[in-house]
Amino acid sequence: MERNRELKPAHIAIIMDGNGRWAKARGLPRAAGHRAGVEALRRTVRAAGDQGIEWLTVYAFSSENWSRPKAEVSDLMGLLKLFIRRDLAEIHQAGVRVRMIGERDSLAPDIRALVDEAETLTAANSAMNLVIAFNYGARDEIARAARLVAEAAAAGTLDPAEITPESFGQFLDTRLIPDPDLVVRTSGELRLSNFLLWQAAYSELVFLPCYWPDFGAGELAEAIERFRSRERRFGGVVPRDVAL
Ligand code: FPP
Repeated sequence: MERNRELKPAHIAIIMDGNGRWAKARGLPRAAGHRAGVEALRRTVRAAGDQGIEWLTVYAFSSENWSRPKAEVSDLMGLLKLFIRRDLAEIHQAGVRVRMIGERDSLAPDIRALVDEAETLTAANSAMNLVIAFNYGARDEIARAARLVAEAAAAGTLDPAEITPESFGQFLDTRLIPDPDLVVRTSGELRLSNFLLWQAAYSELVFLPCYWPDFGAGELAEAIERFRSRERRFGGVVPRDVAL
């Protein structure tokens, strides 16, 4: 059978879900769950590097997360800053290139500056790529891309007749990033929640029951194992069925 037994996913994208429930189960405030979530993120970046994964994308803050209580939004902003301040040197030393996808203009100037710093410092690294989806929502990303396409068409620099999925993809935040082979969501929820809707068209989806703060090397290996047992056809047929 044509399985991916030997194949490693080149790009794994993760919906890090369940911080709040992890905290609640321990009688802790939600903020403690998010802090533990950052520890899990650190472990996962290391584990992905150890397992030879080239691209890791993590959903750290969605465009819809602004509707959470103010204090929680501010906790999540603080954690991104802390993550960059505390971990950037180690990430850089490990040869990891950092990028952010998502809408930047409405982020506070200090956060934008830190993200710029992380991207600039690591721009020449090539051992692994870490993509942080922050203030990211797939519909927002696609709408922003459509706006750019419409502006180019109105300015006469783009012929609408020549728009294809490939050329449209060049206007997305992920223009330089390959599509994910595998999307993992923790906490048992079975949804994509506005994450990489365009890019995940042919991704394998793996849902794990553990809450994000409990995620680590073992859970990453388990997700990769499940990916290997899948058969990817990208809308075609596998060669063994063509002869039937
Ligand atoms: C989902 O858990 C998680 C988030 C909304 C944020 C993910 C954030 C982290 C892992 C830590 C922050 C890391 C960075 C780099 C900013 P939830 O709160 O929705 O959990 P629940 O569904 O159990 O309530």
